[in-house]
Amino acid sequence: MPKDSAGHLIPGRVSSMRSVPSHIVRPEYVGKKGPTPYSGSDVYSSDRIALIRESGLIAAQAIEAVGQAIRPGITTEELDVIGHEFIIAHDAYPSTLGYRGYPKSLCSSVNEVICHGIPDDTALEDGDIVNIDITAFKNGVHGDTNVTFVVGEASEDVTLLVDRTREALNRGIKAVAPGRQVNVIGRAIESYAKRFNYGVVRDYTGHGVGAAFHSGLIIPHYDAPQYNTVMEVGMVFTIEPMLTLGGSADWDMWNDDWTVLTKDRSVTAQFEHTLVVTERGAEILTLP
Ligand code: MF3
Ligand code: CO
Ligand code: CO
Repeated sequence: MPKDSAGHLIPGRVSSMRSVPSHIVRPEYVGKKGPTPYSGSDVYSSDRIALIRESGLIAAQAIEAVGQAIRPGITTEELDVIGHEFIIAHDAYPSTLGYRGYPKSLCSSVNEVICHGIPDDTALEDGDIVNIDITAFKNGVHGDTNVTFVVGEASEDVTLLVDRTREALNRGIKAVAPGRQVNVIGRAIESYAKRFNYGVVRDYTGHGVGAAFHSGLIIPHYDAPQYNTVMEVGMVFTIEPMLTLGGSADWDMWNDDWTVLTKDRSVTAQFEHTLVVTERGAEILTLP
């Protein structure tokens, strides 16, 4: 099991890229260095919102399928296979596969990994937590969602971190309303996280999503008044707070140029939904 003597993760072996049936339409960035910069709108018609909801449903159900397999001993590579097979069985493309060179169909971020952990031969252990982040692309649009799972039974402080990170996402979603600035979201999340002295990661954010995986619209999870875009009915974006037990927002990156982990190696959790702004507030587009 790749952990060092202090119990910290070390990189495992990453297997070769999985194939996707040729009838499944690829996002434009696959096979290129990166995506074409997005110049379209973050506001969608109700017809396109229905398509994002369809992609979001596939992503959310894929996470459920992965979650049912999570137990001590399973590797994150085995979880990737389950997510990959679920997504392609629903005629969708796993958006992360080939995105800026990312090699897998989901992100699996264990314990001190904040986000973008790459599935490998790391076996999960009792008391670990693992975030599973899946984005599905179908009918020309992406739906992006993630869930942190507890493996077996975790310590009380870790279990509370997971539950409160889910609650932080819910509070962010409740702050959404047309006419408000997007900075209300991070203000709600950070003020809640601060009660428990959790750190709020700043350098990875929510984002506009739909026709593009990352549209360029940024949704911070901390109090950042300069992000003053006004929310409009039909606007689609993610909220995906990452909270740390150590209270710091500082991070390191592994040499794989993907895996982001807490600088103090404290445990961190994340939850994510894609949502659309409605007259009444927000509708989640990534419910299973
Ligand atoms: N799904 C992640 C997000 O929430 C992005 C993953 S990009 C990858 O924005 F390349 F790391 F997979
Ligand atoms: Co996202
Ligand atoms: Co995601």
